[in-house]
Amino acid sequence: MTKVTHVSVLPAETLALLAPQSGEVFVDCTAGLGGHALAIAQAVGPTGRVIALDQDAAMLALAGPRLAGLPVTLLHANFESLPELLANAGVTRIDGLLADLGFCSDQVSDPARGFSFQADGPLDMRLNPDAGATAADLVNTLSEGALADLIFEYGEERKSRWVAKRIVERRATKPFTTTADLAELVRRTVPRSGSIDPATRVFQALRIAANDELGALDRLLAALPGLVRQGGRVAVISFHSLEDRRVKSALFKVPEVWHPLSKKPVEAGPEEQARNPRARSAKLRAARRL
Ligand SMILES: C[S@@+](CC[C@H](N)C(=O)[O-])C[C@H]1O[C@@H](n2cnc3c(N)ncnc32)[C@H](O)[C@@H]1O
Repeated sequence: MTKVTHVSVLPAETLALLAPQSGEVFVDCTAGLGGHALAIAQAVGPTGRVIALDQDAAMLALAGPRLAGLPVTLLHANFESLPELLANAGVTRIDGLLADLGFCSDQVSDPARGFSFQADGPLDMRLNPDAGATAADLVNTLSEGALADLIFEYGEERKSRWVAKRIVERRATKPFTTTADLAELVRRTVPRSGSIDPATRVFQALRIAANDELGALDRLLAALPGLVRQGGRVAVISFHSLEDRRVKSALFKVPEVWHPLSKKPVEAGPEEQARNPRARSAKLRAARRL
């Protein structure tokens, strides 16, 4: 049997806000292991349809068996191209959409994917291993200034200039190829404060950059008003402030287009946070198309 480790975040809250009805057409932009897609597909039933995307073919391979027999079309694609994907599928308007951003636990726990600073692996971090520059490419080729800006902006690391300087000094003699190598340099450069490993922020910054995560989110959010029918619902689950800020301004600050379905972002309760550490930073925002 396939080992499934990712636990869907805020499943009941997401379903309640999206309120999928029998016969409706939904998009799940981030299929992952298919937890949310499964619940949506059961709600829309055999007369409805769920188009579920993931840019990581390995995740689709895990989601497929879980979703077998349900009205789900799996697509290996980046959600930034959603308008073209829907046009190709002959879909002109959708009733609802979910984007559960970031990565699955399964991607991070596989050292071969290069997301983890706790286990050694190649310094890769691409969610789609067939596209784009790896984290190693960025670390070994960006100018010191560009690296510092990236670490500051996407990692919110205050010592970004210092980290970039040390990276550039070190790579002159030996380019970075592994996660452990980079994590060790960061730990030697930035003193630990509290329980958070200093490598966390630098790794987050590189992951966001390697996958152009914020660019893809901006393109998706800009396309939504043209894709969702009047009365349709959209939900986005984000995991850091750089994402949530964008979601807030696209869905909660455009009253002529979107009616927010909650006053504040929905967060996981203590029980879910205890059971699923990933839920601790999750913020769910949902809105109805006017
Ligand atoms: C948090 S997981 C989704 C988990 C899923 N909701 C579930 O219940 O199992 C995020 C997934 O989105 C995918 N992803 C991230 N950015 C993407 C993008 N721009 N386009 C398509 N898939 C993306 C990742 O590969 C990952 O599998």
